[in-house]
Amino acid sequence: MAKNSNLLGFDMGKPLLINIFMALLLSVVCMTSQKIYAEEKFAKTPADYEGPFYPVTRQEDIDNDLVQVKGQSGTAQGDILHLSGVVVNTRGEALQNVTIEIWQTDPHGRYNHPGDSTPGVRDPNFQYWGATTTDADGRFFFKTIVPGAYNPRPAHIHYKVLQEGKVILTSQIYFREQNPTRLPSMTSQIELQTVDMKPVNDGEFETFFRIVL
Ligand SMILES: [Fe+2]
Repeated sequence: MAKNSNLLGFDMGKPLLINIFMALLLSVVCMTSQKIYAEEKFAKTPADYEGPFYPVTRQEDIDNDLVQVKGQSGTAQGDILHLSGVVVNTRGEALQNVTIEIWQTDPHGRYNHPGDSTPGVRDPNFQYWGATTTDADGRFFFKTIVPGAYNPRPAHIHYKVLQEGKVILTSQIYFREQNPTRLPSMTSQIELQTVDMKPVNDGEFETFFRIVL
């Protein structure tokens, strides 16, 4: 350290005004870095495999109600899942007008995809693939069913997030209660993709999922 400097590096030989200016500059830098640190509220949601069963056949009905299919009078088999959520950035600020697509299995673990050879008939009343857009508060909602698991994977819902038509995240949602033995080892990354389902009625559950970009 130079002669006549103190621990903060101020030169005791300099005029008082210069040292006051340096002290102010230092405090502004400290406050700014503290503010940036304090504003980071959430970790980013990790990406996950798209898998081989992203829909290849364009459905006529792509909305956020997967339990009712346009032109069908019945409703989907399986337990209903009210999946609500929000899309935010790491500071917790809502991201509006973001599109979320989900695709998943029916209760028997079947995708609506020609490459899925799981035996059995697909449910004509289940929509398998849906999409919606976040509102001004970054919120979104799907009415779907609790997905069935297929070997060796735990039950999950695939999703893509798109902004202005461009895919910015592809990942999966896991369900803690559904997969006591099949969940990937619970790393901090998987924890960010896992939700709890709450029963709200007989055969009906709800869950909330936060997507952080
Ligand atoms: Fe899958």
